[in-house]
Amino acid sequence: MLGRVEVMHGVNLDQLGRRDPAHYGSLTLAELERTIDAGGRELGLEVHFFQTNHEGEFVQHLHRLAGVAGVADGIVLNPGAWTHYSYAIRDALELTRLPAVEVHLSDVDAREPWRRQSVIAELCIARVAGKGPEGYREALERLCAEMSR
Ligand code: DQA
Repeated sequence: MLGRVEVMHGVNLDQLGRRDPAHYGSLTLAELERTIDAGGRELGLEVHFFQTNHEGEFVQHLHRLAGVAGVADGIVLNPGAWTHYSYAIRDALELTRLPAVEVHLSDVDAREPWRRQSVIAELCIARVAGKGPEGYREALERLCAEMSR
């Protein structure tokens, strides 16, 4: 096993399958996570998932990853709308000191101007947006490359 990766989904991502398919596709979160898990296995990764609609819970989960050595070697995160303004999540991500990749299903740079802003980007080794579920596979590959450095 190459490493353990925590895949974290933020606010409204539990509603996948009901959100605008033009931006988010038609997979439910459970289906998306199965796809991500399969990709992770192919890469030799152990993937764990977390989703919440509560910002404080997202922060506390990052604290857990920061506090317990070995619980995760890397993070893939799609904080949803929190990406664009949550300094609390940004600061908690910094605490983890783990390599992280930011993922968005939709092409955030081609949508409303406020979606172009990411307060976590400077802490991430990469950002993948607009590639749908495939973007998570790419994020896992980026983490693999980072872990085997
Ligand atoms: C999203 C993009 C965000 O702007 C939006 O608020 C989401 C999902 C994406 O995956 O494309 O909820 O992070």
